[in-house]
Amino acid sequence: MMTIGILTIIVFGMSAFVTDGAKCLNSKDVERFVVVNCAYQEFLSVPSTDILKDVETLNLEHNYISKLFNNSFTEYPNIKNLMLSFNKVHTIEPGALGSLAELETLDLSQNAIKEVPAGLPKSLIQLKLNGNPVLDMWQLETAVGLRVLQLRGCDLKAYPALGIMPNLVNLDVSENAEIYDLDPAQLAVTCRLARLNVTGATNLFRPGTPGAHCRCRRVVQWAHTYKVTVFGLGQCPDPLAGDGETDIHDDPKDEACARTPEQALAAFKECMAEWEHRNTPYWAIVSGIVIVVARVGQMIV
Ligand SMILES: *[C@@H]1O[C@H](CO)[C@@H](O)[C@H](O)[C@H]1NC(C)=O
Ligand SMILES: *[C@@H]1O[C@H](CO)[C@@H](O)[C@H](O)[C@H]1NC(C)=O
Repeated sequence: MMTIGILTIIVFGMSAFVTDGAKCLNSKDVERFVVVNCAYQEFLSVPSTDILKDVETLNLEHNYISKLFNNSFTEYPNIKNLMLSFNKVHTIEPGALGSLAELETLDLSQNAIKEVPAGLPKSLIQLKLNGNPVLDMWQLETAVGLRVLQLRGCDLKAYPALGIMPNLVNLDVSENAEIYDLDPAQLAVTCRLARLNVTGATNLFRPGTPGAHCRCRRVVQWAHTYKVTVFGLGQCPDPLAGDGETDIHDDPKDEACARTPEQALAAFKECMAEWEHRNTPYWAIVSGIVIVVARVGQMIV
């Protein structure tokens, strides 16, 4: 009885927010964020009515939205959390997301997106693209603050070419069975990566592949040195009988087999320099100048 009473209160409480004919449910969550829930409403595009203009969390999951136009969100500049999973999105105009200067979390999982959307705002922290046939990653370059990237089940043919991403700490490339190879240089461009999920990459370092033994050991060595927890990697394969390896780097008896390649160290350095550059606060630079000026001033006096 008690439960039914509470449920009744919740149901009546919520319906109080629903205006006539509206499909979206407007409310404030516990932290007083403005939340609008438009999930499961058969929308074909981002609605321009029914939504509070100061919406911070907008849930558009499970609709039939196929395009995001560059004016789709201009009415809602405060969006921090945009949920668009399980739609039909295949086209995102370059200006569509750029207007969202507060956007922190973007979930575009389970759509038909072939490339990372252009013009991602620099405020973005978390991007979920699970279950999209994404091929092209280069547009990630504008998402300079990105910390979490999910590419689960994206039919990736290879480990994604991310470019230097010093803020990325969490990368999920699980359930991409066709990823067959990985190299420390590919990990080095994400120099502050802490968690990598390769679960379900069943062809990665497949036993019997020439050189897989040494390449796997180099990755394990790198992960150990730079404290990257790799989920789902499993045991490195045994060396091929009679080796059959092409050069000393692939010869399990040679020291080079597990040694970190120079190229990876160079990429790591470049990434760390970029991180310092991006994360040195303005006041540190200014106070550095002030100290130098003061010293010089003393010397002159
Ligand atoms: C938005 O789209 C219109 C029409 O397609 C175009 O003229 C305009 O340049 C676009 N703006 C941005 C910022 O992409
Ligand atoms: C790794 O990915 C698999 C498959 O997507 C998932 O089930 C698992 O929870 C993930 N592990 C971590 C630690 O995130």
